[in-house]
Amino acid sequence: MRQKVVIISSSPRRNGNSEILCNQFLKGAKEAGCEVEKINLNDYTIQPCLACEYCRRHQNICCQKDDANKIIQKMIDADIWVLSSPVYFYSISAQMKLLIDRFFAREYEMRESQKRKKVYYIITSGASDLSEHTATIESLRGFIQVLRTVDEAGIMNGAGAFLKGDVLKHPAYQSAYEMGKQMKEMEEDL
Ligand SMILES: Cc1cc2nc3c(=O)[nH]c(=O)nc-3n(C[C@H](O)[C@H](O)[C@H](O)COP(=O)(O)O)c2cc1C
Repeated sequence: MRQKVVIISSSPRRNGNSEILCNQFLKGAKEAGCEVEKINLNDYTIQPCLACEYCRRHQNICCQKDDANKIIQKMIDADIWVLSSPVYFYSISAQMKLLIDRFFAREYEMRESQKRKKVYYIITSGASDLSEHTATIESLRGFIQVLRTVDEAGIMNGAGAFLKGDVLKHPAYQSAYEMGKQMKEMEEDL
């Protein structure tokens, strides 16, 4: 069975460094035979979680009718997630944070899921010091840890890529493609 991969690209800068790495992963994963969809969060309307707990009283249905629900559903239906963010002030982009908080509505359902997923992180930053990525990665890890049914499978760091396109000269450019291609081996392992 073809593996379903959903790539969440959360930078508002189109064709920027993190999206370039997402595209490389996508190319590799497609060549490996996966069904891949990339979602640019900035193209969608995602309101912040209201913490109203409507979802807790209404079978995990969020009271807000915007694009978050369909993006989250695609993620729930997928086997593999790629979460991508630029480092913004040592953390994830606001677009990624909005999406993560909206998972509040589906949190318990995810925890009870019988099917495990895998997650990859793609992070880019202007600073070449990798320690600049720590808090960003930990933010994503905190989210994944709460869901309990998603296993971290890899991280692609594009550090030292400040200007749009800098990552084209970075070793991560090739590695992101190879990481996507690994999906083939994973499929063979199943
Ligand atoms: C609002 C903002 C905050 C940023 N904060 C950091 C930071 O804390 N550390 C860093 O190394 N780079 C920082 N950068 C640089 C970006 O992480 C870097 O340019 C990255 O490659 C952008 O990825 P993108 O092209 O996919 O948007 C920041 C950029 C912006 C616009």
